[in-house]
Amino acid sequence: MLPIVEVENVFKSFGSTRVLEDVSFSVSKGSVVAIIGRSGSGKSTALRCIDRLEIVDSGRIRVAEHEVTSSGLDLHQLRRDVGIVFQSYNLFPHLTVEENIMLAPRLVQKTRRSAARESAMQVLTQVGLADKATCYPSQLSGGQQQRVAIARSLAMAPQLMLFDEVTSALDPQLTGEVLRVMEGLATDGMTMILVTHEMAFARKVADEIIFMHQGRVWERGPAEILDAPATAELRDFIGNGL
Ligand SMILES: Nc1ncnc2c1ncn2[C@@H]1O[C@H](COP(=O)(O)OP(=O)(O)O)[C@@H](O)[C@H]1O
Ligand SMILES: [Mg+2]
Repeated sequence: MLPIVEVENVFKSFGSTRVLEDVSFSVSKGSVVAIIGRSGSGKSTALRCIDRLEIVDSGRIRVAEHEVTSSGLDLHQLRRDVGIVFQSYNLFPHLTVEENIMLAPRLVQKTRRSAARESAMQVLTQVGLADKATCYPSQLSGGQQQRVAIARSLAMAPQLMLFDEVTSALDPQLTGEVLRVMEGLATDGMTMILVTHEMAFARKVADEIIFMHQGRVWERGPAEILDAPATAELRDFIGNGL
């Protein structure tokens, strides 16, 4: 089967700093890929290139039917099909949970109010927050706000979800509730690429682990690569308190 994401020979520099160097990987539909690696190894940049938040210098990226690196890309269609969640939740403080979730479907997809509300309740149920629909973000914990941010992405019915260290700002207890939501999505068959420091979670949920080092895909494979690293760099990374 054709992979839903293909990244081929991508190079990216910021000024004279080379951040991605000949990065290639693919993701098959319904699978979970975890990207791990030290700070500064290019993990976020790789995700951002997939959602065209950054433009590659060379190489090719395809997501479903979208040629991300082509000048003919329909950016709106791409963003509709790809959900991205960051460490910061970026919810609108003056809107309720439900209104935050309904905003993009209403504005971008021109969904009718009643249908948008119905799908908001559906995704809120999915993240276990149906009872918080009329709350404001400030009334929620960090973990709950992050779950709302995930629900907001899900409301667009994406084909692919990207998660960039979504639990890094949360304490361990709140981290667990967010990871459980992500695990549920994986079980339901959502295709996901996640950058994470939660190694136990990566082991449990990921079909494939990609270890990035100095802008390169240094090692990749099933979770077992963490038990028997082929390179000193991955061994060091795992050894350093992870
Ligand atoms: N917009 C930018 N402008 C300049 N340098 C950047 C920018 N974004 C990232 N970088 C640099 O690119 C490198 C990789 O960053 P990043 O992809 O965020 O790594 P990671 O997510 O693995 O920590 C770092 O050296 C970072 O400072
Ligand atoms: Mg990062």
